[in-house]
Amino acid sequence: MSSALKEYMTLCQNRVEEALNARLPSAAILPQRLHEAMRYSTLDGGKRMRPMLTYCTGKALGLELDILDAPACAVEMIHVYSLIHDDLPAMDNDDLRRGKPTSHKAFDEATAILAGDALQALAFELLANDASLKVSAEQRLKMITTLTKASGSQGMVGGQAIDLQSVGTQLTLPELENMHIHKTGALIRASVNMAALAKADLDPAVAKKLDHYAKCIGLSFQVKDDILDMESDTATLGKTQGKDQNNDKPTYPALLGLAGAKQKAQELHEQALLSLGDFGSEADLLRDLSLYIIQRDH
Ligand code: IPE
Ligand code: IPE
Ligand code: MG
Ligand code: MG
Ligand code: MG
Repeated sequence: MSSALKEYMTLCQNRVEEALNARLPSAAILPQRLHEAMRYSTLDGGKRMRPMLTYCTGKALGLELDILDAPACAVEMIHVYSLIHDDLPAMDNDDLRRGKPTSHKAFDEATAILAGDALQALAFELLANDASLKVSAEQRLKMITTLTKASGSQGMVGGQAIDLQSVGTQLTLPELENMHIHKTGALIRASVNMAALAKADLDPAVAKKLDHYAKCIGLSFQVKDDILDMESDTATLGKTQGKDQNNDKPTYPALLGLAGAKQKAQELHEQALLSLGDFGSEADLLRDLSLYIIQRDH
């Protein structure tokens, strides 16, 4: 990882940790166990890739980071909710997440379901109301629309439905790509696009280039996730390695082999860089991030 990216990542991770902590209900408030579960899964863990993308896109567009805290927190909350539910026995049935027991193991299934539900609601409340989001009402509405679409049946939830329905089946490459674009790509795309929406009167051509960049890295992110599930280890991942094969999931390495999947990730990275061709050095962090996504070890 470039030293510039490393430095900025630490800054963003600390920034979003503080912002999330300030926005999550205190565990001292009723219902305490629910609030404890929301905080348990959201705080102190994860790479914070989606907030990082929001902040790095903002930097590429010359925005102040302050107005991006709410969208950064909102997309991370949706992501965390998706992980809590993804790990449930009815879905991937995982015991370990971010190096600690999954929500339904640390609490119980009902609490895990509700913690996910509540995080989802809070994400949208932030976009609607957060005082730090100093943009027009129209911009807010566009951000809400972007994140709702990315989260719902034609976004992440839709991708998860395809994932579950595909267990034990052989998908074609276009079907697999479609599943990944939805279950993981949609939120990554929203992370970038919400920052673009925070810039008043952004040239639509520039917005389109950023969206294309996000589409490429959204897919490469899940391709790499599939590769890591196959070739990393549980301690490094902080989640159980080898689950895709155990659960008979269709993945890129299963369809293309490890070398083919790595080649695909590399091609997506190159396409992502091409999408940023009109940007100067202000988009270097986005370029570095695309490389990091396919080179990361967890
Ligand atoms: C894991 O996401 C689930 C996918 C959508 C691939 P991350 O790899 O971003 O998980 P955290 O947030 O770092 O734990
Ligand atoms: C997760 O995909 C996509 C989500 C929307 C959570 P995976 O099921 O591959 O994620 P991990 O590997 O459990 O993190
Ligand atoms: Mg899953
Ligand atoms: Mg899973
Ligand atoms: Mg996975």
